[in-house]
Amino acid sequence: MEYQKSILCIGAGYVGGPTMAVIADRCPQYRVHVVDINEERIRAWNSDRLPIYEPGLDEVVARARGRNLFFSGEIAEGIRKADIVFVSVNTPTKTFGRGAGRAADLQYWEKTARQILENTSSDKIIVEKSTLPVRTAAAMERILHATPKGPHFEVVSNPEFLAEGTAIQDLENPDRVLVGSRETPKGVAARKAIVEIYENWVPRERILESNIWSSELSKLTANAFLAQRISSINSISALCEKTRAVVDEVAYAIGMDSRIGPKFLKASVGFGGSCFKKDILNLVYICENYGLDEAARYWESVVRLNEWQERRFVQNILENLFNTVAGKRIALFGFAFKANTGDTRESPAIEIARGLLEERADLVITDPKALQNARMDLAGLEGNVTFETDPYRAADGAHAIALLTEWDEYRELDYECIYDSMANPAFLFDGRNVLDHEKLYEIGFNVFAIGKAPLKHFK
Ligand code: NAD
Ligand code: UGA
Repeated sequence: MEYQKSILCIGAGYVGGPTMAVIADRCPQYRVHVVDINEERIRAWNSDRLPIYEPGLDEVVARARGRNLFFSGEIAEGIRKADIVFVSVNTPTKTFGRGAGRAADLQYWEKTARQILENTSSDKIIVEKSTLPVRTAAAMERILHATPKGPHFEVVSNPEFLAEGTAIQDLENPDRVLVGSRETPKGVAARKAIVEIYENWVPRERILESNIWSSELSKLTANAFLAQRISSINSISALCEKTRAVVDEVAYAIGMDSRIGPKFLKASVGFGGSCFKKDILNLVYICENYGLDEAARYWESVVRLNEWQERRFVQNILENLFNTVAGKRIALFGFAFKANTGDTRESPAIEIARGLLEERADLVITDPKALQNARMDLAGLEGNVTFETDPYRAADGAHAIALLTEWDEYRELDYECIYDSMANPAFLFDGRNVLDHEKLYEIGFNVFAIGKAPLKHFK
């Protein structure tokens, strides 16, 4: 079959896989090829058990795979055949050398630039899909144009704003799509070619065009603003616990102000996920590099507040369990960084588990989708940890339950039955404020919710 465009995506992860699946689904006239160095991941994309759990993803992949959506490890061949190359590789925080712990590690990114250069002799559009420091496109251009008289590569920025757990919904119906390029005739033409892809299903007014640096910086800024809202409300949650104000009521009241808005004001045990922390720390590093220390300290405080919120949660458990959890069974309900995903990257559950294990608690962890990742996250830690698919069995004999992920099914459990199976006095720490606290208190639990005065049966 003749395809109108040949699109390649390098990186078949949480972004590359779902994004390309939706493009292929919505644009049967394009050939979409996703490649990765991780053969196991590619095998999973070609199987009935996709490598990531995302509601609606199986259906989208089933419609397009083998028709115009292909997954393989053939990177060189993929590059040769493509008109447009999306690069969606990981850009984690650097763990070594200059900027360790803050700067983005661009080694995977740079490697793809070199792979592209080595494997093609024709002009191409290169799309930055990964989240990158502002001005990365300039470095990319320098590498790609290292050979004089080589093909022309136009670098375009098209950051991805999807959230895990709602990726398909976000991709099919995005708030906006952003495409940035150089303002040269070739830059503008490349930008239009990317806009044309999205025009197949996204209303034109939601497709924004900008200069390339604004596009790169908008992605880091969006994540920083979203995380900042969570840290802001979490800071208020601590004050609520001291003053008998209720954080959900405060959030509701301020969210009704149309200038503030109601979203992203849910107090929690802390934000997790692979990106918020790394992107803010990257922003901090960039500010520092430009000598903007006040701006750097401002954004850094968003991450510090989040770390404090996680520590505070562990401290609260410890203090209320009479200052010792050694040998006590504590059930963690949920390990994923949010509901509807099996992803545990930077999940607050990891730090909370670590904190409780340091205090020698016996942990039993349950989660509908994330147990495999949880096992890997906690491998090598000293202490007693068991993994249990059934939340009732997890709670059996426990002194306390700590709810860490807001899975719907945790709202629907029979807490009377759970209470009867637990040690006495029974404690419940709701790190997501999703349960009916008054009802739990009536059942007999001592209930500790984020941003709410505790409900205790003793002084
Ligand atoms: P990921 O780790 O799930 O996937 C990246 C993939 O790239 C991996 O499978 C890896 O094997 C592959 N890869 C690395 N180097 C390669 C190379 N040279 N050739 C071929 N494949 C290579 O990462 P992700 O979560 O998909 O994130 C990718 C980028 O998108 C990051 O910059 C991230 O910040 C950004 N982002 C992520 C999300 C999200 O929800 N996860 C949302 C928006 C943006
Ligand atoms: C986030 C952004 O929402 C996406 O727009 C962005 O593309 C993505 O990061 C990225 O760049 O990786 P994601 O991390 O998948 O998406 O999920 P979110 O829904 O943003 O949740 C992040 C964390 O914040 C979760 O741990 C969640 O539980 C927590 N959260 C969220 C709160 O504690 N309170 C809230 O009100 C909202």
